[in-house]
Amino acid sequence: MEINILTICYLIGSVTFIIGLKMLSHPETARKGNLIAAAGMAIAIFGTIFLYQENGLKLSNYAWIFAGLFIGTVAGTMAARKVKMTAMPEMVSLFNGMGGACAALISVVEFGHINHSGEPAGNITLLIIFAGLIIGAVSFAGSMVAWAKLNGRIKDYSFNGQHIVNLVILAFIILASAYYIFSTPVGLGYIFYAVLALSLIYGLFFVLPIGGADMPVVISLLNSFTGVAAACGGFLYDNPVMLTGGILVGSAGTILTILMCKAMNRPLSNVLIGSFGVNQKSGSSSFSDQGNIKEISINDTAVVMSYAKKVIIVPGYGLAVAQAQHVCHELEKVLSEKGVEVSYAIHPVAGRMPGHMNVLLAEADVDYAKLQEMEQANEQFPSTDVVLILGANDVVNPAAKSDPSSPIYGMPVLDVELAKLVVVNKRSMKPGYAGIENALFFDPKTSMLFGDAKDVLQKLVAEIKSV
Ligand code: TAP
Repeated sequence: MEINILTICYLIGSVTFIIGLKMLSHPETARKGNLIAAAGMAIAIFGTIFLYQENGLKLSNYAWIFAGLFIGTVAGTMAARKVKMTAMPEMVSLFNGMGGACAALISVVEFGHINHSGEPAGNITLLIIFAGLIIGAVSFAGSMVAWAKLNGRIKDYSFNGQHIVNLVILAFIILASAYYIFSTPVGLGYIFYAVLALSLIYGLFFVLPIGGADMPVVISLLNSFTGVAAACGGFLYDNPVMLTGGILVGSAGTILTILMCKAMNRPLSNVLIGSFGVNQKSGSSSFSDQGNIKEISINDTAVVMSYAKKVIIVPGYGLAVAQAQHVCHELEKVLSEKGVEVSYAIHPVAGRMPGHMNVLLAEADVDYAKLQEMEQANEQFPSTDVVLILGANDVVNPAAKSDPSSPIYGMPVLDVELAKLVVVNKRSMKPGYAGIENALFFDPKTSMLFGDAKDVLQKLVAEIKSV
């Protein structure tokens, strides 16, 4: 009877994961989707704790289980409440690393059980244990490096021939695992722990050389690894909800990785082996060759925007840094009240994580109908009077279209230069994440409005109100 209820709990868990994931694909339903999937996860977890039986025995180590649940819940809740939007990729990375570690630990525990039982394990069981161990350990070590890089604790590191060393380590991991799985040698259990150590080293070496701007892609890839490693656990325990969850994370992570690469117009191999954003400068000419920039005052910006028919705002990473989303929404409202048609152009990789700008603007209650995707916005720019760029740089860099030697060449960008006037707000002439200069700032149609986005927008709103 209880087993049946447990099966129903797992079924509810699996269905809620799928429904939740589907709802995450739209900003309006995302929050609810997250809660639905979390509720399903809670049902699956508590179902397992109280109803799971093996050989007629229920779980008895409740003190350990609830102590772990308590510590994890408190740490997770505090971290999620405290985290700043700009530090979100770091947190995702950290959580993902924990998932990878769990999957690897499941393999360690199950390998220990096999060793203690003294009974030979089947090849398939060993294959799943090794797969979970390798993928989980790579995901854990890689995610920890990603986390430390994103918060500036460690820097990109590579040495000559690193890719060859990585391939050699990978070959050792695969050969040693295959040897153990297919010959199940007695008394050579240390091979398992050697594979664990090599997988951890591989995870470190795999992520260490990858450039900062590529980290979200790598995090998404590692996320899919964790999903696959968790699915191995599902196979091992014959647990359908773990299997469904793992497969969903694995496939969603893979799709996201592919989509991000597409948005940057770079093959995954180039992300993993290339070094976009590190130690690389554009082949385009230096600042001194580009001519002069033109500055515009807050006052003049207020006048041109107030008398414009159509304004498009381009948000970027700097808007998130300045936490200027609320005052940005206020600017939109003030302009709309004056009869100006205002919308936002959202580049798919603006900011530092997928959907960063959508989440940021949603925080300020900006109407989703006002957000235009890149293709839509590019059609609108020629009929736009003023484009206001707020802390965006790479996503409006024309070198992506015109300079084959630029590291961002081929990445689709917003064609802001087609508008009648472009106003760029940033604090200085410093480059964006890709570390390259931007010829847009020197375009005769462009005027620079220097300053912190929040500060500038506050003054701009006040000025527009008085126009
Ligand atoms: P960036 O190119 O990084 O430019 C951001 C600009 O904001 C900087 O040039 C900076 O200039 C300015 N800024 C910083 N703080 C500011 C503040 N307080 N007020 C005003 N301006 C401020 O940003 P982007 O255009 O959004 O492009 C995103 C980059 O990240 C791309 O290279 C993209 O490929 C990469 N990336 C994104 C993702 C995802 S999924 N979003 C994934 C991988 C890579 P100053 O210092 O002069 O102010």
